[in-house]
Amino acid sequence: MPRPLVVANWKMHGSRPANAELLAALLAARPYAAEVAFCVPFVYLHETAATLAGSELRWGAQDVSEHAQGAYTGEISAAMLAECGCRYVLVGHSERRTHHGEGDALVARKAQAALGRGLTPIVCVGETLAEREAGDTEAVVKRQLSAVIHQLAHCAAEMVVAYEPVWAIGTGRQASPEQAQAVHAVLRAQLQAATGRAQAMTILYGGSVKPDNAAALFAQPDIDGGLIGGASLKAADFTAICRAAG
Ligand code: PGA
Repeated sequence: MPRPLVVANWKMHGSRPANAELLAALLAARPYAAEVAFCVPFVYLHETAATLAGSELRWGAQDVSEHAQGAYTGEISAAMLAECGCRYVLVGHSERRTHHGEGDALVARKAQAALGRGLTPIVCVGETLAEREAGDTEAVVKRQLSAVIHQLAHCAAEMVVAYEPVWAIGTGRQASPEQAQAVHAVLRAQLQAATGRAQAMTILYGGSVKPDNAAALFAQPDIDGGLIGGASLKAADFTAICRAAG
């Protein structure tokens, strides 16, 4: 069993005063048995790094370019994230797949770019409601993960995977612990077949995780922690979720 991991995904939320208050509260509530990390908007990385440096809390970004450098206006490279001290970067979040047209192959190349600079990619997979209702959940998440496994080859065991059913993200509609566990077991089996080291890998669950459902989700054998959106913006809620993981 890996050490539990809880990752905040602030999305496009925050302001300098609000971030300072939130991070101060999370620092004050230490220690956590789980590893805790914050994936913040790019422009807040420096301040987040300065605030968290010297603590065991980690930080990261919400996206990364597939390219190393060059004429890619608006893009941020893995090397730049590494310079900001990032440990993690989200890749393939459903909001990037939906709103920015990111497909499986691009997501896989982003994961590779991250690993190449020593960042741990948190690879997000998950089905839409229509896909679940059509009985395609397993096929969809396996297809999404397989693209990354193929791209990373012998380094595949170094990624973190996050299962986030699209219908449960920001909707308040939760996957039951059993529904989530069923998909996590599929993902772990796929990772095991590819790496032989899946028991040591981290598979997070994300999608409307709140203080009142976190413990039941994290108690599932193949759920190693959470990727938390809305609830990560409230210090009391996020602290409670971090505690539920440890
Ligand atoms: P949510 O978001 O916790 O607000 O559902 C999770 C995510 O999108 O990572």
